Amino acid sequence: MKKIIAILGICSVIFACGSEKSESTEETSSTTKTEEAAPATAAVGSATGEKLISTSDCLTCHQVNSKIVGPSYVDVANKYPATDENIAMLAGKIIQGGSGNWGEIPMAPHPAISTEDATEMVKYILSLKTN
Ligand code: HEC
Repeated sequence: MKKIIAILGICSVIFACGSEKSESTEETSSTTKTEEAAPATAAVGSATGEKLISTSDCLTCHQVNSKIVGPSYVDVANKYPATDENIAMLAGKIIQGGSGNWGEIPMAPHPAISTEDATEMVKYILSLKTN
């Protein structure tokens, strides 16, 4: 038991030293970091959308990387460019449901989701594009 405490003690000392060092380097690179992050978030992407999806029933039928009942979000993102028309069309699809774009299984309608929330969800989904 004493040994474990000693090991933990050493680890936390090393960890503290390490993070102190990286703090100073982080300061110098922080300007380039924000510059890099800005265009990515400006294009698409929505933390609100990600949260809304995780609190709705979407994940029962959709996963980010693999097809289950519905297409994976990455496949959806790769199929539709993030244009205003596509975002509006897919948001409508979330609310009204539909079928035929990915197979015969219909997408469940979500009449309780607002257009605003559905739009955030689509922005998040389309930000997962890999091609
Ligand atoms: C009961 C299963 C199910 C649930 C729940 C579900 N989906 Fe789907 N979803 C599908 C299926 C099946 C398709 C494919 C429909 C098709 O072929 O047009 C689909 C398609 C989609 C598409 C692509 C539509 C298109 O026209 O290409 C989006 C975007 C989507 N779902 C988002 C969501 C979101 C966001 C939620 C949660 C609010 C959700 N889905 C919940 C089954 C589901």
